[in-house]
Parts: sequence; structure tokens; C-alpha cells
Amino acid sequence: MDQHRETSTGHVTRKAVLRVALAAGMAAPAVLVGVPALARTLGGPDAPAPELTPACDDGDDPTPPQMEGPYFKPNSPLRTSLLEPGTPGTRLTVSGYVFGRACRPISGVLLDFWQADVNGAYDNTGFRFRGHQFTDSRGAFALTTIVPGLYPGRTRHLHVKVQAPGRPVLTTQLYFPNEPRNNTDALFDPRLLMTVRDAGGAREAAFDFVLDVPQDPGPGPTPTPTATAPGGTWTAGRVYAAGDKVTYGGAGYTCLQAHTAQAGWEPPNVPALWRAG
Ligand SMILES: [Fe+2]
Repeated sequence: MDQHRETSTGHVTRKAVLRVALAAGMAAPAVLVGVPALARTLGGPDAPAPELTPACDDGDDPTPPQMEGPYFKPNSPLRTSLLEPGTPGTRLTVSGYVFGRACRPISGVLLDFWQADVNGAYDNTGFRFRGHQFTDSRGAFALTTIVPGLYPGRTRHLHVKVQAPGRPVLTTQLYFPNEPRNNTDALFDPRLLMTVRDAGGAREAAFDFVLDVPQDPGPGPTPTPTATAPGGTWTAGRVYAAGDKVTYGGAGYTCLQAHTAQAGWEPPNVPALWRAG
């Protein structure tokens, strides 16, 4: 049974409960540890509640790698906040979990972030806007920083290296939705879109990594059959709006962000664009 998936409030997901527990510094209820938390809780009270528990295999493809670029530096400071006194820029928090292939969280994962400052410049002599941290016992991480500035040739992005203990390093980049340059940056990949919301002048982003780490599936939930969606079969080239429903591979999906569908962006591959149900 999955009694925490939804309540009468209609918006409580296991992930939300996990986040609340995390924010309060509480131990997550045992029933919540080790379950998939790939369902995105987008938006505020007007956002549709997930109707079904997403099957793990809808979202557990490993997070894709991206090029490191020219600005990585080893030996960044151990810190969860990249803010320094007087740091200009829009405050940004990025939080999420690191999962293995069975959607179970992984503790002790190294995350090494680096990014441009508000002007789009990297600090290549010191360590401004560079820092590493480790996931906690619940597989969670949280970064406090600023929204990175733009620089020529790229859309807005964060760089990160993610490494589970004793495993290879995943080098990748994270992207922001609704950025005009997302459409013209050849590196941009919607599978690496964070969910981002405004929070009183700051921005709150979420992203969950899935590493290619074998795991015992454990007592996860049973995938739920998906209801028939009315919006037709997912088709490359078609323009989708948030809320549109499609079927793909016999399962139903709801569009989370307006976009033009492209080959490779099929719903199971891009949890930032489609959620099951
Ligand atoms: Fe960069």
C-alpha cells in the first residue's frame, strides 16, 4: 500500500513529505526511505496532483552526462553554500536526491558544483562559486548559490560532478526552464532541466540524479496501471502545452512544460517535460 502518495489535500507526495522531514531535520519515516521520489511536485496549489505513482522505470534512466567544459578545478572547498558576503545575484537553492538504478537513495555521494558568477565569469584563480558536498543519510543534497549569469555561446547552466562511493564520476550540467537560449544551445538537454519556482525574490530549484549504481530493488511500490490518456500518441514535431495528455508505449503522460517534441524527448526519457499519469 502506498498510503503516503496522496492524502485528502491532494498534493502530498512522498517526496514532499521527505522534503518536509528534511527541512525540519527529522529522520524520514522508515516507510518513505527507499521509495522512488521521481515524481515532480511542480508549481503551487494550482498544479495538478499526481494521479498515479510513477513507475520507477519511467524515470530511472541514469542522468545523462555532459561535457566538463574548460572551467573545472579540482580541490573545491567543502561547503553547501557558495554565497560570500556581498555576493550579487538572485539567490538560488538547488535541492534533490541522488538515486541508484532501483530508485533507492544513496548516501555519501560526492557532488562538486561549479558555475559562473552573475556576470557569466568563472573564477579560475580562486574558488568562488565552486564547492563540494556529500548527500546525507537520506540521499539528499542542498546547494545555496546564485542564479548563474550568461556567457557567450551557452544557455544558463550549472556544472556538477556526481560520484557515489567507489563508483565512476558522472559529469553533467543542469539547466533552467524557460530560458530563451535553451533552444539554441546545442548542449542543452531537457532531461537535465531543473524544476524551478520563484520564492520571494529568490529561486528554488529541484533536481534528482539517478546514477548507474546497481541496487536491490527492495520493498518499492508496485507500478500502477496507467489510465488511458485522451490526447493521442506522443509525436515528434508536435507542440505540447502544459497539461496536455498523451500516450506513449501504452502508458499515459501529462505535459509539464510547453515544448516542441523531438526524437529522444519521449516521455519516459524526460521527467522534466512529462510525468506519468
Ligand atoms: Fe559553463
